[in-house]
Amino acid sequence: MRAPRPSSSGLRRAAAVVPALGAAFLAGTVVESRAYALRRFELPVLPAGARPLRVLHLSDLHLTPWQRRERAWVRDLEQLEPDLVVDTGDNLAHPESVPAVLDALGPLLERPGAFVLGSNDYYGPRPKNPARYLAPDRGRRVFGTRLPTGELVRGLRDAGWADLTNTRADVDVRGVRLALVGVDDPHLGYDRFPPPAPASDADLRVGVLHAPYTRVLDAMVDDGAGLLLAGHTHGGQLRVPGYGALVTNCDLDRSRARGVSRWWSGAGRSGRRTPPPADAAWLHVSAGLGTSPYTPVRFACRPEASLLTLVPA
Ligand SMILES: [Fe+2]
Repeated sequence: MRAPRPSSSGLRRAAAVVPALGAAFLAGTVVESRAYALRRFELPVLPAGARPLRVLHLSDLHLTPWQRRERAWVRDLEQLEPDLVVDTGDNLAHPESVPAVLDALGPLLERPGAFVLGSNDYYGPRPKNPARYLAPDRGRRVFGTRLPTGELVRGLRDAGWADLTNTRADVDVRGVRLALVGVDDPHLGYDRFPPPAPASDADLRVGVLHAPYTRVLDAMVDDGAGLLLAGHTHGGQLRVPGYGALVTNCDLDRSRARGVSRWWSGAGRSGRRTPPPADAAWLHVSAGLGTSPYTPVRFACRPEASLLTLVPA
């Protein structure tokens, strides 16, 4: 017996419904890309007896001068009263965005802070086929307009934030001594790991980078980092519920595309289910707050900032 053939009116209805569902999905992803969320994590990385520290981790603002909502949301984060702010790059999405970024960070710039740069602090976004985001990275980089990197760096430095571009800085935050080490963006191959530090009596070494390439994460834990902070992945940006990120846009595995995980030298070559050694570092990858203005979509991956409370191990 032959299967019944769909009637022509059924096909017409399907032809009308499918694009409508697609349009509704697309609209939902655009709405989600502005549904900013604050995530909170407690990380046991400080020595016994140290007082807890509140670290606000911001990343991937991708600000344009007209994104007033994102700007206002970031300004309000001051209410969290963080002890330290760490910005892991990709602040800009337009050649005239530096004043918008400095305005968004405004009250937070009064607090101790540190930053590294991402590719979108050097080069502006370009329209590209969104499907390329899901394709394997073959190392080809397409550069947009040169952005005013120096103006951004001056603004952050003038506020007293530590510039961790291929260098180190020690900061004392409420009696806790932090040895920070950072690199320029590994996604562009700009990372040059700084020379070894002299013996340090810091309470914690913190590695800061934009794109969490495994070679740099390994170098940072070999250098003694107990905490690693990165951005760049956008958490996958379009996540599949129950499966997670499809891509990380670097060689980090998908399971670490956002949030907290453990890292140790060689973790990238270990199976995902390999238990971490007891002294493994803690890695926090921020899904970030923005997107390229040409692909303002997120799914199952709200834009985020994270408040990390560091406590004694
Ligand atoms: Fe980014």
